[in-house]
Amino acid sequence: MMDVFCYKNSHLFAEDVPVSVLEKKYGTPLYIYSSKGLRNNYYSYADALKDIPHLICYGMKANSNLSVLSILAKLGSGFDIVSGGELARVKKAGGDTSRIVFSGVGKQEEEIATALEAGIFAFNVESIAEIELIEYVAKYQGMKAPISVRTNPDVDPKTHPYISTGLAANKFGIPDNEVMDIYERLASSAHLEIKGIDCHIGSQIIDTEPLLQALDQLIKRIDLLKASGIKLSHIDIGGGLGVPYKNQSTPDTRKYLHDVKKRLGKRKLKLVLEPGRSIAASAGIFLTKIILKKSNGTHNFIVVDGAMNDFVRPSLYGAWQEIIEVEKKITGTKKLVDVVGPICETGDFLGKNRLINAEANDLLAIKHAGAYGFIMASNYNTRARCAEVMVDGHKHYLVRAREKLEALWEHEFIIPQ
Ligand code: LLP
Repeated sequence: MMDVFCYKNSHLFAEDVPVSVLEKKYGTPLYIYSSKGLRNNYYSYADALKDIPHLICYGMKANSNLSVLSILAKLGSGFDIVSGGELARVKKAGGDTSRIVFSGVGKQEEEIATALEAGIFAFNVESIAEIELIEYVAKYQGMKAPISVRTNPDVDPKTHPYISTGLAANKFGIPDNEVMDIYERLASSAHLEIKGIDCHIGSQIIDTEPLLQALDQLIKRIDLLKASGIKLSHIDIGGGLGVPYKNQSTPDTRKYLHDVKKRLGKRKLKLVLEPGRSIAASAGIFLTKIILKKSNGTHNFIVVDGAMNDFVRPSLYGAWQEIIEVEKKITGTKKLVDVVGPICETGDFLGKNRLINAEANDLLAIKHAGAYGFIMASNYNTRARCAEVMVDGHKHYLVRAREKLEALWEHEFIIPQ
């Protein structure tokens, strides 16, 4: 699929808009999203699933800007939420609340009550204590809560330990050998309705083998449940595939979903997925401007106006993401540099040992920044969170304004003294 951010005459474009035009209008640092990129990525799942009943619940923790949600909602996407805040965002963006799955190990009473009222598709439950709480709330509201049990298949997803979620040692899900008892408990409740089963073993998964291994376990469990009289109507296979941050070859969505469908066979189950990263990542870049260059003897640094507070993946996970020049120069040569931000921590870097040919005031862009980018930004060092824009063909829209400094202490008070 054609990249929505590509060079024309040595200049980087976002769809049909030169990135430098966006910099002039909105300033830096800046997140730039492509509506076409979002749509293409959504369709890579939807098209491959056309022939079976399915529900794509966009994992909105990847990027929950209202415009992003609205674009996906218009395509018919559902949403995977993990908080009452995310539920409120779906409503605000005009999403269909009956297409929501609610994930997470620590859902609170109020969040459960609101989700029940909103008529969500399913609660993905992760413990007996949570089931009891949902039952209590549903009873109080005189309702029946739709339930899917998140199993922990104890499969190694071979990804970063912070984003591995399907190992026995992780806080997520219910061990496979306890699942049967849980469904019996659900079946005996007047306020809980058995809907499905789910699992999520991790994020940024490049090798589909562990995903399929977890799926095999789920299917085995579904068949065992059926044999004991418990019928499920959906199977939720969790998040989407990893993205090629380092230009590595990544699994083909169509092939993966073909393998999934083959395994599901003739079982009458709706397939639910919760892709986040693979929908938003390649549809966004993070734009930053070079403040200055400096050299410490052996080390060359490019100091940019974006920092770990704006884009934390490199600092937090040691993540490698491609950094490119917005203007490809004909003069000068590429030099080995560390791209660092102005924050007072050695951990504040966007990329190390990169070959870059750029000078002060030039622009750099980090690719695949549409997922887990702005959403993880903070105000560390009293830095205002940056702006976000959405491009659609030749058009561009501000979708979140740069924060004003005063807003940073709006909720603070000075004590009398
Ligand atoms: N469903 C559940 C229950 C999840 O926990 C997640 C992500 C997803 C779906 C979406 O997975 P995806 O399709 O995006 O792989 N901040 C980290 C990623 C954390 C992912 C947590 N769970 C990062 O920047 O790499």
